[in-house]
Amino acid sequence: ELLPVVIPAAGVGKRMQADRPKQYLSLGGKTLLEQTLAQIAKHPSIGEIILVISPEDEYFGSLKTLDASRVTRVDGGTERVNSVLCGLQALTNKGYQADQWVLVHDAARPCITTADIESLLAIREQAYAGGILAFPVRDTMKQARHNSGPSIDTTVPRELLWHALTPQMFRLGELTQAIEQGLADGHPITDEASAMEHMGHNVKLVNGSPTNIKVTTPSDLDLAAFYLTAMQAVSDK
Ligand code: CTP
Ligand code: MG
Repeated sequence: ELLPVVIPAAGVGKRMQADRPKQYLSLGGKTLLEQTLAQIAKHPSIGEIILVISPEDEYFGSLKTLDASRVTRVDGGTERVNSVLCGLQALTNKGYQADQWVLVHDAARPCITTADIESLLAIREQAYAGGILAFPVRDTMKQARHNSGPSIDTTVPRELLWHALTPQMFRLGELTQAIEQGLADGHPITDEASAMEHMGHNVKLVNGSPTNIKVTTPSDLDLAAFYLTAMQAVSDK
């Protein structure tokens, strides 16, 4: 059974401070977006790809390596959550059922490996509403007194803290409902899991690789290039 994936790629990349949205910056000979798509598409369990793109986007048309038989372009929204919802609605309109497992993966995470996707897919056998790739926090975590202030209020116990990554995997109907409810409640939805948690669903943390970074600032682009080269070297062996 092939799983569809929604890839939100409708952001402007403000923190990257580049001349174009970061998904169109060059990374290892193609665009960052094409690298992400290539990594996702090569997993044998991934089927259709819904690519969520800004209606104002000026760069999508010049991409060269897209497989039109697998990729559908859908208009995005103002925040990431709105873009993801557009992608999920497109899947429903295409006839996918409510109990269909779907993946959501940030366009800005090109260093996703087949092994990580495999670990996430494996939880379909278990009693969870879904799961997300994540890894445990390593540094001592400090809570500041103010969001602008440099002084420490307290040290937050690290044992329970994880970094949330993507892909995140849920059932199409439950995820769509959770996002719609979260938006209606004004609940902050920064990833799919936050919407599911708000509904009381049990979401599994799946240990993933810390190298699956979200390219956010200029130095992240160099780091992603380094990781991609290392991944290539491993798969060439
Ligand atoms: N995204 C989206 N629609 C939005 C905002 C973000 O599809 N309205 C996508 C981005 O393209 C990215 C992913 O969500 O692939 C994660 O968001 P982020 O890393 O924050 O990207 P940007 O919002 O583009 O960057 P910034 O926050 O620095 O502006
Ligand atoms: Mg953003």
